[in-house]
Amino acid sequence: MAKINANYKKLPGSYLFSMIGKKVREYQEAHPEAKIIRLGIGDVTQPIAPKVIETLHSAVDEMGDASTFKGYAPDLGYEFLRSVIAEKDYRDRGCDISADEIFVSDGAKCDCGNIQEIFDTGNRIAVCDPVYPVYVDSNVMAGRTGAYDAAAERFENVIYMPCTAENGFVPDLPEEIPDLIYLCFPNNPTGAVIKKAELQKWVDFARKHDSIILYDAAYEAYISEEDVPHSIYECDGAKECAIEFRSFSKTAGFTGLRLGFTVIPKDLETGGERLWPLWARRHGTKYNGAPYIVQKAGEAVYSPEGRQQVREQIAYYMGNAKIILDGLKGAGFEVSGGVNAPYIWLKTPRNMTSWEFFDYLLSEANVVGTPGSGFGPHGEHYFRLTAFGSRENTVEAVERFKTL
Ligand code: MLT
Repeated sequence: MAKINANYKKLPGSYLFSMIGKKVREYQEAHPEAKIIRLGIGDVTQPIAPKVIETLHSAVDEMGDASTFKGYAPDLGYEFLRSVIAEKDYRDRGCDISADEIFVSDGAKCDCGNIQEIFDTGNRIAVCDPVYPVYVDSNVMAGRTGAYDAAAERFENVIYMPCTAENGFVPDLPEEIPDLIYLCFPNNPTGAVIKKAELQKWVDFARKHDSIILYDAAYEAYISEEDVPHSIYECDGAKECAIEFRSFSKTAGFTGLRLGFTVIPKDLETGGERLWPLWARRHGTKYNGAPYIVQKAGEAVYSPEGRQQVREQIAYYMGNAKIILDGLKGAGFEVSGGVNAPYIWLKTPRNMTSWEFFDYLLSEANVVGTPGSGFGPHGEHYFRLTAFGSRENTVEAVERFKTL
């Protein structure tokens, strides 16, 4: 008899954003007249930049011509894309990362979820609390987390690092020593950032204890302040202890196109084993690469016109973030984030639980957000809004908040 992977049974509920989607669909069916504004899942709304669209069109034409047609992509991704990433995202920022340390994929979510496969299931993971659910759930599926304690809303073998208003939503170094440390800055869900000197402490900690940092930098393009690192490789010694994930989803509106990459330094090793060949082996075995036309589109993001156009798009979303921040502050809400990240993190009013506030906001204002408790117990009594809506909807949503 075939047996299922029983670890899946340890996962409480469904994936957070699937659950929210279901609740909103049910509400809309029951209230067909409601004009719902969705500021829940961090999905972009603005069209892809013109330079990228133009490049996509010409890449599609190449696929229709026998002399330029492309089949399977190279294992690590096309050289034209990996080179421009290494140059513009890393060397231009003083990080010594080369094209062959970059693995192109269809997005950071998959890579963040899959990376744990190259590590032993006996490894102990540390995560921020609240946290992007993919890091924990993918480790649950692999059998690395132990059982779920429903009362504590925690897995018994995971080190949770509280991110609270008191520590500015940046965790303290853990007392127990983890093998794998997941960090995400600018942070999803809180929108908090880590300063370079703080991040250096994590790198030093990881090197001292032989831990590996899994650094999700999917939102780095939203950084507006100085002294906030765009990459962990800006820190000394990070190439000896860190893997970094990046995405084109939020940077260039590719949530529907799908493109991202993972950086694994060639010499990064643990217990005398290099990680690069393991991920290369996994990539080659389980993945056939992002489509050529999408990789060409990714290359266009780095062209002078592409860069200018995506910068304008990011400025548009950050304009939304400011409208939400200022509007909610003015309406008496306690808010943070939204300055270097497209997420606004707010305290629920009148001590409501996150889900109570979700229902209240949906029914009273027809606005959808994400309950903070869906990201972990320390997210309870918090709520996340995204800046990825249209300007019109963002302004309207803030007006509706003011009536609550
Ligand atoms: C989010 O809303 O947290 C993100 O959209 C999820 C993701 O990027 O996968």
